Amino acid sequence: MTADELAKRQAIIDACRRMNALGINQGTSGNISVRHGDGLLITPTSLPYDTMTPDQIVFMAMDGSHPPGQKPSSEWRFHLDILKARADVNAVVHAHPTYCTILAIMGMEIPPVHYMIAAAGGDSIRCAPYATFGTVELSAHAVRALDGRLACLLDHHGMIALGQTLDKAMWLAVEVETLARQYHGCLQIGKPPLLSSAEIERVRQRMAGYGLSEG
Ligand code: 13P
Repeated sequence: MTADELAKRQAIIDACRRMNALGINQGTSGNISVRHGDGLLITPTSLPYDTMTPDQIVFMAMDGSHPPGQKPSSEWRFHLDILKARADVNAVVHAHPTYCTILAIMGMEIPPVHYMIAAAGGDSIRCAPYATFGTVELSAHAVRALDGRLACLLDHHGMIALGQTLDKAMWLAVEVETLARQYHGCLQIGKPPLLSSAEIERVRQRMAGYGLSEG
C-alpha cells in the first residue's frame, strides 16, 4: 500500500470519528467514501469507528467489485453511483444528523432560510424520496436529488454531503445540519421568510471567489 493510500484510509477513519464526536452521527449509521485511482475507498459495514484500522477500509472498483474477504458499507451502491455521476466530486459523506433527519422524516426540503444554503450549490437542499437502505432505488433517488447540488436529505433516513475533498464534504455535512437546525427552529415560531433564488445565485457566485480575492 502506498503512503498516499494509507493516508486516505486513515483520513476516512478520522472523519468517521469526527462525525460522531461532532454529534452529526450515531454509532455506525454513517459511511464515507473517497475516490482513489480507478475506484474508491469506502468504510466497511457495521464496524465501530473507534477500533477501525486502515486495512479494514475497502477498495472498490468502479464495477462494484472488492476483495472477497471484505464487506463494504451497505450503502456502497449510492457512494459508487454518485462518484460515477459526479466528476466534480471526490468524497461522499453519509450520516444521520438529528435535525436533517427530523426534516427528512417529514419529507421536507431545506428552503433558502439562510444564505449559507448556497454552499450546497443551489437555493434548496432537496429531500430524496424514501427507498430501503442499500438499494438501487435509493441510489437513483439520491443521485437525482443531488443533481447540480452538493447535499441532499434522504426521506426517513438522513443526509448526504459531497465535496471535492473529504475535508470539504465534512465541512458541508456540519453546515447542512446547522441549516436544518436553524430551519427547524424557525418553524417553531412560524413560517420563515425566504431569500430569493436570485440572491442565492449571487451568494453562490460570491462564494466561488471567497478567499481568492479582496472582494
Ligand atoms: P453501514 O454500517 O453498512 O455503512 O451502514 C449504515 C447505514 O448508514 C445505512 O444507511
